[in-house]
Amino acid sequence: MIETIGILGGTGPEGRGLAVRFALAGIKVVIGSRDASRADEAVAKIADKVPAGMVFGAVNADAARAEVVIIAVPYAAQADTLKALKPSLDGKVIINVVAPMDFADGKATAVSVPEGSAARQAQQLLPDSRMVGAFHNLSARDLLDPQRTVESDVVVCSDDEVAQKQVMNLAELIPGVRAVNGGGLDNSRYVEELTTLLLNINRIYKAHATIKLVGI
Ligand SMILES: NC(=O)c1ccc[n+]([C@@H]2O[C@H](COP(=O)([O-])OP(=O)(O)OC[C@H]3O[C@@H](n4cnc5c(N)ncnc54)[C@H](OP(=O)(O)O)[C@@H]3O)[C@@H](O)[C@H]2O)c1
Repeated sequence: MIETIGILGGTGPEGRGLAVRFALAGIKVVIGSRDASRADEAVAKIADKVPAGMVFGAVNADAARAEVVIIAVPYAAQADTLKALKPSLDGKVIINVVAPMDFADGKATAVSVPEGSAARQAQQLLPDSRMVGAFHNLSARDLLDPQRTVESDVVVCSDDEVAQKQVMNLAELIPGVRAVNGGGLDNSRYVEELTTLLLNINRIYKAHATIKLVGI
């Protein structure tokens, strides 16, 4: 059982949403930020949704010391953030939720990543870490509402099968989530790009769509 999770860029909606769900599952969460006071504000925003003493605020460097670390910064910030924290991240299971995209005129467009995907880029920057891509298709709004059952599949991609299984088990701690083995880390690009499609569908339907695969 994982005891602590650190979230780099955990002050954003996705990081806070994951913090709520993992704290409710009994895991201590450190919300990381570039600024300790912003991290504390983020903790205060979710304090009424989580048990006392389960979520803490810290600078990213302290969040990176947790047992498992989630990367929840925008794609444009990923490389610099990871380079600075590499020594703390070596050897660990790292969960990448980054979906590279741009917005213009209200539409989302997937950003092409030279390495193939944000998760692959992160693995290249952190060759000694155990990179896992997951949680891309979950909406922060659903995660932030603990009354809501998250009816979704979470596709989990990694070249490290042990780390992949660990993250699949972690995903299924969120009520309503089914974890799906998405194969190797190279498949993360398809899952990341799907997030862009979901956002554009959300705009059309004024909804918060997610994914459910059938036939498996
Ligand atoms: N929102 C969603 O529903 C959703 C769904 C699936 C996946 N994702 C992915 O999850 C990640 C986080 O999403 P989000 O919506 O929570 O993002 P966000 O609010 O835009 O950013 C998250 C945090 O990243 C930090 N950050 C921003 N610019 C930075 C920079 N230049 N350098 C270092 N840190 C920086 C900020 O924290 P501090 O200012 O406190 O340092 C910010 O609060 C993204 O990669 C996104 O693609 C989001």
